[in-house]
Amino acid sequence: MDTTTLFKPFQLKSLNLKNRIVMAPMTRSFSPNGVPTPDVARYYAKRAAGEVGLILSEGTVIDRPSSSADPNIPHFYGEQSLAGWQRVIDQVHAAGGSMGPQIWHQGIIENHHSGWLPATPFEGPSELNRPGFANGRAMTEADIHDTIRAFGRAAADAKRLGFDCVELHGAHGYLIDQFFWEGTNNRTDGYGGKTLAERSRFAIEVIKEVRRQVGDDFTIILRLSQWKPADYTGKLAKTPQEMEAWLQPLADAGVDIFHCSQRRFWEPEFEGADLNFAGWAKKLTGKATITVGSIGLSGEFLAAFRGESSVPSSLDELLRRLDRGDFDLVGVGRAILADPNWVLKIKLNRTEELVGFAKEALAELV
Ligand SMILES: Cc1cc2nc3c(=O)[nH]c(=O)nc-3n(C[C@H](O)[C@H](O)[C@H](O)COP(=O)(O)O)c2cc1C
Repeated sequence: MDTTTLFKPFQLKSLNLKNRIVMAPMTRSFSPNGVPTPDVARYYAKRAAGEVGLILSEGTVIDRPSSSADPNIPHFYGEQSLAGWQRVIDQVHAAGGSMGPQIWHQGIIENHHSGWLPATPFEGPSELNRPGFANGRAMTEADIHDTIRAFGRAAADAKRLGFDCVELHGAHGYLIDQFFWEGTNNRTDGYGGKTLAERSRFAIEVIKEVRRQVGDDFTIILRLSQWKPADYTGKLAKTPQEMEAWLQPLADAGVDIFHCSQRRFWEPEFEGADLNFAGWAKKLTGKATITVGSIGLSGEFLAAFRGESSVPSSLDELLRRLDRGDFDLVGVGRAILADPNWVLKIKLNRTEELVGFAKEALAELV
């Protein structure tokens, strides 16, 4: 296996990465009352010591009363939480790593299994989490403007604490994606509309505010997915033309890197070419992209939540696409969650030491 391209450095604005491997953002719910503990810092620092090129944090929520459905998801606001994040980035840097927080608002979401609820109802473009399931209230324009400012403050704090970049979570059916999707955005004001481009206004205003807060030289990543939990096979953009009309305005608003979430990276995005989502996003916008989805593992992550175990799998197809220049960076989730030394084992070709992923790995921070 020739992994030369995977271990080439990558530089873009504030990012100086030793290799192309990105730890994908993964919610762990080990931050009581929204405060990342010393164990959380140790967990990320171990991945930095294990030579992960760029660590993206688990989703961490902005300063809105109902941005999270889980009291153990970290906040990215408030003195104590930000002090926790300061410890994280200091330890990651001390171990030689680079890191950005994934800034998140969950939007309209299902209640947490513990029965915990935030102080105010969940909020989104409409009251819908998906067609037929309402669990909150539609945001007013004042809510929208305050939320945009809260995204901006979080990004400014990320820069102030010394993070290397920031990622905005615009994927997987959460707030930003709820604005994109016609299944959840039925607004009749300027934040809704018949076309995906019209429904992108919220995301564009978030990106512009984030860019205003962090300046031109700080790297902004936007994570997107065509799929959502309510519709695995659905696509926001059904053709390359629709994808261009969606992504180009986001790029123009200030995105530096598109993080293109798929469940299986090898699946072509459109008929007629084998390019995946990250491949198309790079081709259409010229921006750098990250691919992700079952890299190095036999099964995909949502099946893993249902208990399906995965075994290590070959990187040949990934390397073929990376060498061809389809994308710049590769996101690895569960394999790095299960093994802080996954990157080192790939680098040193110690593939017989690779471990698989089983749901039990979620029970603790290793
Ligand atoms: C435990 C777990 C938590 C996750 N939490 C998030 C999250 O907070 N934000 C996000 O964008 N994706 C999240 N994901 C999706 C991952 O970032 C990634 O896209 C997915 O696991 C596919 O990569 P993999 O096949 O290498 O695991 C999560 C995945 C897992 C397994």
